[in-house]
Amino acid sequence: MSLLQFVNFPNLCDDRGSLVALEANKTVPFDIKRVYYIFGTQKDVARGYHAHINLKQVAVCVTGKCRMILDNGHNRESFWLDNATQGVLIEDLTWREMHDFSDDCVLLVLASEHYDETDYIRNYEEFVRVVKSDS
Ligand code: TYD
Repeated sequence: MSLLQFVNFPNLCDDRGSLVALEANKTVPFDIKRVYYIFGTQKDVARGYHAHINLKQVAVCVTGKCRMILDNGHNRESFWLDNATQGVLIEDLTWREMHDFSDDCVLLVLASEHYDETDYIRNYEEFVRVVKSDS
């Protein structure tokens, strides 16, 4: 599985402006059980620094931008999320970090499962151990 999987959302744009629809099992490749969004992030504050055992997510910056790092224990990629019509799919067992939030950033996240703190891996060394034992 490729580490970077972008999802392009059709922009239903007309002379009134833009509209993007996110649909479960269509543009978003799972049942959406939870939606959350991050905004008002303080300057020079990074977020994330965790992976999930069983959780798929699609993240999209609906306004502004942030730099995301994804790491599957083998490869690490850094890229900008800066387009309201493009999300990134974050698979199970993927370490994520979000950096360099713009003041206006609203990062929308669609998740395949309800919130479950026991699903988090918050220690990078433990994450690498779990990836190795999983493969
Ligand atoms: P966390 O996942 O650590 O945020 P980030 O990925 O941005 O670093 O979540 C921050 C806090 O919010 C933490 O106490 C858990 C809580 N939380 C929920 O209660 N429900 C949720 O759906 C999420 C994502 C977080």
